[in-house]
Amino acid sequence: LPPVIERISALRQTVTAWKKEGARVGVVPTMGALHEGHLSLVRAAREGAERVIVTIFVNPAQFNDPEDLKKYPRDLAGDLALLAPLGVDAVFAPPVEEVYPPGFATSVHVAGVSEGLCGAGRPGHFDGVATVVAKLFNMTAADRAWFGEKDWQQLQVVRRLARDLDIPVEVIGCPTVREADGLALSSRNRLLSAEARARAPALYRALCDAAAALEAGEAAPDALECARRAILAAGFERVEYLELRAEADMAPMEALSAPARLLAAAWLEGVRLIDNIALAPR
Ligand code: PAJ
Repeated sequence: LPPVIERISALRQTVTAWKKEGARVGVVPTMGALHEGHLSLVRAAREGAERVIVTIFVNPAQFNDPEDLKKYPRDLAGDLALLAPLGVDAVFAPPVEEVYPPGFATSVHVAGVSEGLCGAGRPGHFDGVATVVAKLFNMTAADRAWFGEKDWQQLQVVRRLARDLDIPVEVIGCPTVREADGLALSSRNRLLSAEARARAPALYRALCDAAAALEAGEAAPDALECARRAILAAGFERVEYLELRAEADMAPMEALSAPARLLAAAWLEGVRLIDNIALAPR
């Protein structure tokens, strides 16, 4: 099993030794309950850095709903078993007080890219993400960091914060890993009943259909309305958002005039699922 480090001081000692040997250090930040999506990032990191740290920390600061934090899946032993064959150099799994000691008073707010989409439905969420990711970059002193496009808005927030705070880390985005039926892998999928799990791929299917319609020249309001209806017809209780945004700067788009992302969040059996896909004008 990979060595588990719980203290920032021990992490720094380890990283300092690696850097003395001239190794480039990579980090894959996670909240655990690992699946193939996370493991794809770890494999990419293995290729792109001599030393790889996986961080496992369920970050209370990014949960706006205490119930959601409570029911978030945790399985450190299972996670370590999944990481063992991948050749990870260390797992950093700090207790909450190590990251947020008494008196902790600082927050990182990334304006612009954190607004709308998941930022609208989850107030404070991206401040919590930005704060912990900035801290993890500082704790690990990583040269490179891998994030999934599954959380595309989060990836934009992380890129922005690294640039704005002059953190010398290269942020690398990786494609979304999906089940055979198209459902994006997520730690939250295991909260779905078998029946809801069978309905869940409708979210991705609706995004694909809308993307095809948009690429064929259909007007955005029509394509989005059709997708919204399809998601609800599949048994989702609510579509929280369904939006077309520019790939370059996340600006809302009225029509498919440049490379874009179609992004959605929808609720199924009280579980919030998100997904997004890339599309481009023909
Ligand atoms: P978590 O949800 O555990 O995700 C950790 C990383 O795995 C993120 O970069 C996420 O985008 C990526 N990921 C999740 N599902 C994926 C999939 N199906 N395909 C590809 N990548 C996937 O995102 C977080 O944790 C937290 O917000 C964190 C960045 C760790 C800060 O607390």
